[in-house]
Amino acid sequence: MIDWTRLTPLDAGGVTVGRAEAHPGFADPDYVRRRNLIADRARGHRVGEPSPRVRYTEAEHATWRRVHGALWRTQDGRVCPELLRARAVAPIPADGVPQHEEVSDRLQALTGFRFTLAGGIVPNKRFLGAMAEGYFHAVQYVRHPAMPLYTPEPDVLHDVFGHGIHLADPFFADLYRTVGRAASRVDSADALDLISRVYWFTLEYGVVLEHRGQPRAYGAALLSSYGELARFTRADLRPFDLTEMARMPYQVAGYQPVLFTVESPTHLADLLHAFLDDFDESTRHRLRLPAPAERGFVSHPPQR
Ligand SMILES: [Fe+2]
Repeated sequence: MIDWTRLTPLDAGGVTVGRAEAHPGFADPDYVRRRNLIADRARGHRVGEPSPRVRYTEAEHATWRRVHGALWRTQDGRVCPELLRARAVAPIPADGVPQHEEVSDRLQALTGFRFTLAGGIVPNKRFLGAMAEGYFHAVQYVRHPAMPLYTPEPDVLHDVFGHGIHLADPFFADLYRTVGRAASRVDSADALDLISRVYWFTLEYGVVLEHRGQPRAYGAALLSSYGELARFTRADLRPFDLTEMARMPYQVAGYQPVLFTVESPTHLADLLHAFLDDFDESTRHRLRLPAPAERGFVSHPPQR
C-alpha cells in the first residue's frame, strides 16, 4: 500500500502533486492512522471477493452528509443530463456512508458491475483489466473532515459519487468494459499507460459540449469534486485529441488545467470504441502517438 504521508513527486513518477502534502488528509496523524487502518484491509484482497464491512464513525457519516448535500446541488445544471438521470437510480444515500456491498448489489442489478476493494493506487493492469469482468476498484476511507469539499486522493465519496453514477448507467458501464477489454489484451507498461491516460482524460475528467456549446461534466473526478464542478468551465477546454492525451503530463492532485471535450456521450462512445476495440501493443506506433512528456510511468493515478 502506498503511504501517502511519504509520497513525493518522484515517487509518483514525476507527475505534479502540487501542495497536496500540506492537506490535512496527509498532515493529521490521527486521520492518517484511521485512513490506513481502513486501507490496510485491502492487502491481499482478490478481485471479486466481498469488501469487508466498515464501522464508520459518526464524524465520517457527518462528512458524507455534508459533501452529499453540497455535491448534489452543485451537480444540478453542471453535469450532463444523461448522468443526472443515472444519479436518480444510483446507490447514493443521503444519510451516511454506504457499505461497498450495498453499493455493489444495486449496481449489479442495474449494469452487472460491482465494487472490488482497493487500498489506494492500484496497478494499471489490475485496475483497468478488472473492468472487463465488471469489477471497479474502490476505496472505503472517507476524506478529512476539516476540508470536506476537496480531497487530494480518491475516497469513498469520489468512488460512489463519480464511478457509482457511471456504473448505474448501462451506456457508461459499457465504456468501462470497453476500457477493461483493451487492457486485458496488453501487458506492457507503455500500452497500459496509454489506455490509462485516455481513461483519465475521458471517464475521469471528460466534458461534454451540449447544444450551443454549453460545457457539462461527465468525468467521475469532476462529478465528485465540488471545487472542480464549480470551476471546470474556466479550464482550457480542448476537443478530444489522442495525441495530446498521450503526451500531456497530468496533475495527480490539484485542478486539471486542460480538459478534453466531446459532443455527446454517443460521440464519446464512438471515439473510445474506435480507439480501444482493436487496441494492442502496436497501437501507439500505428497511430503515431507520442511518448508521454513526463519521465517514467504512473500506475493508475489517484482519482477524486
Ligand atoms: Fe476515479
